[in-house]
Amino acid sequence: MSNEGGRARAIEQALSRIGQPISEEEARRLEAREQCECRRGMFALAATRRQMFGGAGLVAAVGMTAMLPNAVQAKAPPGAVEYDVPDDPTKEQGRLMGVDGGYGSRSQFESEVRWYVPTKTASFTPMQSGYGIVTPSGLHYERHHAGIPNIDPAKHRLIIHGLVERAMKYSLADLKRFPTVSRTYFMECSGTTGRELMKATEPTVQRTHGLVSTSEWTGVPLSTLLKQTGLKPDAAWVLAEGADAAVMTRSVPLDKCLSDALVVFAQNGEAIRPEQGYPMRLFLPGWEGNISIKWLRRLEVSDKPFFTREETSKYTDLITKTGKARMFTFTMEAKSVITFPSGEMKLPGAGFYEITGLAWSGRGKIARVEVSLDGGKTWSLATLQDPVLPICQTRFRFPWIWEGQPAVIQSRATDDTGYSQPTHQQLIAERGPLEPAAGAQFYHMNAIQSWGIAADGSVKNVHPFG
Ligand code: CO
Repeated sequence: MSNEGGRARAIEQALSRIGQPISEEEARRLEAREQCECRRGMFALAATRRQMFGGAGLVAAVGMTAMLPNAVQAKAPPGAVEYDVPDDPTKEQGRLMGVDGGYGSRSQFESEVRWYVPTKTASFTPMQSGYGIVTPSGLHYERHHAGIPNIDPAKHRLIIHGLVERAMKYSLADLKRFPTVSRTYFMECSGTTGRELMKATEPTVQRTHGLVSTSEWTGVPLSTLLKQTGLKPDAAWVLAEGADAAVMTRSVPLDKCLSDALVVFAQNGEAIRPEQGYPMRLFLPGWEGNISIKWLRRLEVSDKPFFTREETSKYTDLITKTGKARMFTFTMEAKSVITFPSGEMKLPGAGFYEITGLAWSGRGKIARVEVSLDGGKTWSLATLQDPVLPICQTRFRFPWIWEGQPAVIQSRATDDTGYSQPTHQQLIAERGPLEPAAGAQFYHMNAIQSWGIAADGSVKNVHPFG
């Protein structure tokens, strides 16, 4: 016992020697040097940088094609390499390993891609063609406020300062030396399905619900780092700041930082993707995506929230019933959607189909998913596929014999707190309608989704109650 205690103390001492102590003064100097007007909400600078990135990207793309096998190139879908297709693959030696340079590519017959909004500031996961619960890293949804920065991990630092006993500066290498955890979590943008509240708007499940994805994330608990810095008695909030051109900032309650918050450097078994925050991001399980600051470079501990642009002018929830806005609404409540069959698909004819989809809750595990085949009049339990993990997408399945009649199919998730996904009407009754004239974006819209099946088998996004 005392041996174990001694070992634990030795480990704690060793951890305290990782990274570089800095003075609050030095932290302030670094902060001042990295300050720019864009932090105050000015977008002109961001646009200029974005154009620069655009130019650099073009050069990189041209350079890359020279590395691909000759036969191929332009015709292959993104992420694939095109090879000749033999008439009989058993009569020809297959290609040798390594022609792709040692990093695999997907089949040239697979072409799913993210769907981008015209401004290229958000992209949506093709949920209709996903399997299981994990989203391929290259199909994880994106939301950027000033493009994807290209960051040299050797130069990147994470500074923790403010109301701490000992301000610290960590490199990526420092971060990786701490005890690490891997957790499979969903992440969802608070704007997902926001346009669906008043009427069926988007045609496909990718475009209605595609701002949610699941990955296995690997990183260091933020509580481990805050244990190293120590906390002053007044510490209550932490400002998280990104190294992108928006210098994206959000205030995080200290309780969350000390519970399940992670500083993540890997996703699905490899380094986190640039568009997900390479070389490191904050990850706050179950909370709206934008607060899990990507390209994380600074954490400032404070006694109060910072009221940044992203938590005052944006990411607040206008309650049109009262004219007041909710701030700091973090948790993504229980939600589900049927991904097959879904919008713009066409069932080839009557017969057996497995209805399937995904359910998730920012508060814990999915306890049950019910499916309705009659627009919500009657409900039946779907099967939940293992694993059913907390704060993770859960795959559900429901066998269905379609008789060839028109139908409205829905799913309804309930999480292990007992909370059930509401209808549109319930949400509108609680918060008031979305009023486009007020410029209101309806965040945290988790209502039950309906897909209408016509007699000819075609599937459409519908609002069955008008
Ligand atoms: Co919110």
